[in-house]
Amino acid sequence: MARYIGKETSRVDGVAKVTGKAKYAAEFAVPNLAYGFIVLGSIAKGTITTIDTQEAERASGVIRVFTHLNTPKFGPKPPTEQAPPKGTQPEEDKSFRALQSDRIFFNAQPVALVVAETYEQARFAARLVKVTYNAEPHMTDTEAVRDRARFPKGPPPPQPRGNPEEAMRDAPVKIEAEYRIPIEHHNPMEPHAAIAVWQDDKLTIFDKTQGVYTVRAHLAASFSVPEENVSVVSPFVGGAFGSALRPNYYPALTAMAARELKRPVKIVYTRTQMFTGHGYRPYTIQKVALGAEQSGKLSVIIHEAVHNTSSTEEFNDNTTNFARQVYACPNLYAATRITDTDCNTPTWMRAPGAVSGMFALECAMDELAYEIKIDPLELRLINYADIDPQSGKPWSSKALRECYRLGAEKFGWEKRNPEPRSMRDGNMLVGWGMATGVWGAFQREATARITLRADGTAHVSSATSDIGPGTYTVMTMIAAEYLGLKLEQVQFELGDTKFPKAPSQGGSQTTSSVGSAVYGAALAIGAKLLEHANKDAKSPLKDAAAADVEMLDGRLQLKSDTSRFVHVADIMKRTRLTEITETFESKPSPERQNYALLAHGAQFVEVKVDPDLGTTHLTRAIEVTACGKIINPKASHSQEIGGVIWGLGMALHEATEVDHRYGRIMNPNLQHYHVPVNADVHEIETMFVEEDDKVVNPLGVKGMGELGMVGIPAAIANAVFHATGKRVRDLPITPDKLL
Ligand code: MOS
Repeated sequence: MARYIGKETSRVDGVAKVTGKAKYAAEFAVPNLAYGFIVLGSIAKGTITTIDTQEAERASGVIRVFTHLNTPKFGPKPPTEQAPPKGTQPEEDKSFRALQSDRIFFNAQPVALVVAETYEQARFAARLVKVTYNAEPHMTDTEAVRDRARFPKGPPPPQPRGNPEEAMRDAPVKIEAEYRIPIEHHNPMEPHAAIAVWQDDKLTIFDKTQGVYTVRAHLAASFSVPEENVSVVSPFVGGAFGSALRPNYYPALTAMAARELKRPVKIVYTRTQMFTGHGYRPYTIQKVALGAEQSGKLSVIIHEAVHNTSSTEEFNDNTTNFARQVYACPNLYAATRITDTDCNTPTWMRAPGAVSGMFALECAMDELAYEIKIDPLELRLINYADIDPQSGKPWSSKALRECYRLGAEKFGWEKRNPEPRSMRDGNMLVGWGMATGVWGAFQREATARITLRADGTAHVSSATSDIGPGTYTVMTMIAAEYLGLKLEQVQFELGDTKFPKAPSQGGSQTTSSVGSAVYGAALAIGAKLLEHANKDAKSPLKDAAAADVEMLDGRLQLKSDTSRFVHVADIMKRTRLTEITETFESKPSPERQNYALLAHGAQFVEVKVDPDLGTTHLTRAIEVTACGKIINPKASHSQEIGGVIWGLGMALHEATEVDHRYGRIMNPNLQHYHVPVNADVHEIETMFVEEDDKVVNPLGVKGMGELGMVGIPAAIANAVFHATGKRVRDLPITPDKLL
């Protein structure tokens, strides 16, 4: 009987966070600190011809002004980085690095760094740096270069399933439409920041990152020092959503300045610098064509996406990847191509690819439902994939049917009048829409270390990060559960390269990867205790194997007969141990290969549209997800609610606007880049249909959090159509598109 797993548990780091004890990258106190301020360029493409730093250098408090003329060259980037395409090793990492040449690759690229005694002095002097350029014609408009789209290098282009072209010719019912998603930015609350401290050739850096080991490899290579010389510290992250997955340009810039000046340097992005200081969700154009029988049975799906990348790197978010696995359909072509723009490189952003692709596919499904006059939910059920249509493998588990059923029932879907503009609340047009969500059940190698002390406390560590989902808490729960300790007896630490290696926190794979490592380390502690216990000839566990015992309430006991036990404290006393340490590396099991592994969800939403003002409100959302076992329902609901709210932002608010004449972002701030606020958020209910999945990993957990967002933009767009009769295929759905 689980004591912690599956029970609502408040964040173990909650008090530290609300009392200010939790330290974020920019908050570490370091003596003799100097402050850097980044100067951004003002053209999109070309070269710097002159850069005049004299006035800035004369300004009060300025220590040095770095430009490409006096900045040392960084060493090559290592292939260990999370560089696109995800999961494969790049031939050469071409991600942008600051102040390395006179070339300008994108507007608002850093062109200088002013370091001064105070932040204010650095920021003031930054305005005195004068740059002239030799500008070249640039192109930042994905629409204008969509015809130049190509497949990225690396993996071979996707092959069709069946014969999509022929199937489309023969289909009795067809729909085809084009969908657009603008550039979007992560906009976490905490701006990216680093403090770099050198001691001889040893570097300590406090950085906002989703992966301390990635930053370590990056900086070690940048400064040609051994990896063990670089210590990366990042215990708390105030949101990231993908923006801190790859090392951005500022950690190396900060460390460079600190090394040159022989004193610690801190750099913090401004909100405006956040818009080119890391990647973004790319501008994405998608074409979806569906062919079906009159019965609603899909015969073909053609789903093609084009999104932008930079001129220097091939980023691909695999927009159309999940489309292959969502519906049973014999003929399919799903492909994502990229096109160069003079923008900085895009990156992964919450539910990358999946939320974009499912926006298009799930809106197209709604269009098909109206075309053949079938209920949109019914259409999904008709095409339900009982096995993975792409690989033909069975699902390790898939409770999507139950998600649909439960969501529809809770929402009252059967009361829906399908006729657009048929439902009203006073003057407001009411619309009900639904969509499917999908995400992976990923797992990667991860290592955790547990030290069990004779006083009955445990220290657990792994160099993962907690960007907000509640990793501190969930790892503490898993350790306490399998060490048989109380939560208060377990301390879990993360976010530091002094801890064992773990993957970056991304892809909703931390609980499956790091959780499995903590679980494995706890079992290893139990096995070690058993070994020690059985050195005693009178041990009641004499003939037991490691798999037969468990730890509970300070005892090591036989699972099948809990009256046979040894007190852990006694074992340690007798063997004169003050502590036992075990390190465990968990790996995805080979059995995973025999199955298709996905997490699923169903979303039902209500919108109210003001017919006079064109404003849309998400008044009700019910989201039911099936993502294996839920370890901490409290944090998990919070994750899924967060996903719904982000889906709401994507559907109705968020867009990074570029003035293509200058190739410059027009709204790099939270005044003009709109994200949902409290007034936008009404009733949101999230539910889980738990799956008992023995294949995915020992804990039976799948990816969640990102899953909570997928399907929401489509459900909202479909509800807006139901409310207004107007099909808006370009996000966000702003009033101008409805009037
Ligand atoms: Mo994320 S885009 O899994 O950090």
